[in-house]
Amino acid sequence: MSFKIISAQEAASHINDGDNLGLSGFTAAGSPKSVTVALADRAQEFHAAGKPFKVGIFTGASTNDYVDGALSRANAVQFRTPYQSSAESRKFINANQVEYFDKHLSELAQELRYGFLGDVNVAIIEAVDVTADGEITLTTGVGISPTVCQLADKIIIELNSYNPKEMKGMHDIYQPCDPPCRKEVPVYSASDRIGSTTLKVDPSKIVGIVETCIPDGVKPFSPVDETTQKIGENVSNFLADELRAGRIPATFLPIQSGVGNIANAVLGCLGDNPEIPAFEMFTEVIQDSVIGLMKEGRCKFASGCSLTVSDEVLKQVYADLDFYKEKIVLRPSEISNSPELVRRLALITINTALEVDIYGNINSTHVLGTKMMNGIGGSGDFTRNAYLSIFTCPSIAKGGKISAIVPMVSHLDHSEHSVNIIVTEQGIADLRGKSPRQRAEVIIENCVHPMYKAKLREYLASCVSSHTSHNLKKSFEFHNAFNETGDMTNAEF
Ligand code: COA
Repeated sequence: MSFKIISAQEAASHINDGDNLGLSGFTAAGSPKSVTVALADRAQEFHAAGKPFKVGIFTGASTNDYVDGALSRANAVQFRTPYQSSAESRKFINANQVEYFDKHLSELAQELRYGFLGDVNVAIIEAVDVTADGEITLTTGVGISPTVCQLADKIIIELNSYNPKEMKGMHDIYQPCDPPCRKEVPVYSASDRIGSTTLKVDPSKIVGIVETCIPDGVKPFSPVDETTQKIGENVSNFLADELRAGRIPATFLPIQSGVGNIANAVLGCLGDNPEIPAFEMFTEVIQDSVIGLMKEGRCKFASGCSLTVSDEVLKQVYADLDFYKEKIVLRPSEISNSPELVRRLALITINTALEVDIYGNINSTHVLGTKMMNGIGGSGDFTRNAYLSIFTCPSIAKGGKISAIVPMVSHLDHSEHSVNIIVTEQGIADLRGKSPRQRAEVIIENCVHPMYKAKLREYLASCVSSHTSHNLKKSFEFHNAFNETGDMTNAEF
């Protein structure tokens, strides 16, 4: 079967008001870059003519400005799931102009197949290659591509020649059977391959191919600063201690690391610590620092869902593709983040909190309890099932006007039952085997910024003593003080 080459505008004309779209990619890596921009223009033309035009969007994770940015600016999004990190889309979400539901990333594909979330009308899939019989080689991100291609009525391919066809071999496409026929996912080490290198779709569903040549446009990280460096050192020293104590095997355990500047600094420090052996990663996003660690022989293998690296680093990967193809596998998000595999492979998981409470509950998503930042992403998939779950964050934000450690989290993403270790630039709180009272003591003593220690002790003194002591009239005094005066240090207990 030969496919028609079409313009982005013609591709967008296949999408109608009320349709649900399933997009390839995971983060900016592998997300569409052309059809969604044409679709935003189409929506604006409808709006100018006084007609409604909005679509629902299912993706692997966050996307890029061509998707969330363009479609949000055009006010063309009806609902959005499972994760975003776009300033434009955040604005619409927090103004309640987009219905956003924040989901564990490992769950979205199966819930689409279970029929929980409605139809997928059109899939837009970025590819480096597609054969006449419908074998697609994906680009830098996999996400939920297999499921949306299975469910969609129509498939539009964005053939992006920025990426080399020789990428074929980097992907491992596998979709579990649905209940009641599900069996174990047969991955027993981070580097096991269990599926196919291409995604096989029904070629009769492909309505056309849009040719592009556009990089993912991932920005490089900010240089490591004093705070993130200290957090990184605290994590790596803690893991070296665990290794010495025999609680981590001498061969080490696979690492999952969240995204962003803190994660980047943590990975750098793990690489620099001579006591930590070369390690494997079983993670979601493979970022710049992982590629650096591979070059230095400090990271032996990385299983992930996307290669979310800056354009500069991606060029280095493509220039030495045979070396990296042996060391990287890209999987669908329901496999890269599979709770079954996280537990079996015994991952050390390292994620970032916005807010932590004195008992070890974590808020990763809602600023001051109400404003959505990004979403839970994969942090729940990994934390709940980890061998050792670690959360990192700077002890203060906004120059000290916010304490990241509060009496009670204003929104709960990860409960005290799943969280083992808290790390700030101040130090480490090891919560394993501790009662709430003991946890509060170690968190305040080791992780809180000196400017907030006395306040948190005053809070505890004001509590009705119980198993988990709280003073419910005062639990949100830090947040109230910030909302009323712009500074949590004004909280009174
Ligand atoms: N209260 C209010 N605002 C806070 C805050 C708090 N407790 N802590 C931080 N902030 C502010 C910061 O000042 C910053 O604001 P700015 O953008 O105006 O400067 C902003 O929130 C985010 O801080 P930043 O330093 O940019 O955080 P980050 O890039 O390290 O990201 C998360 C932190 C939690 C938002 C991010 O890790 C995330 O989205 N996590 C959830 C998903 C996840 O864990 N994915 C990985 C799983 S594989």
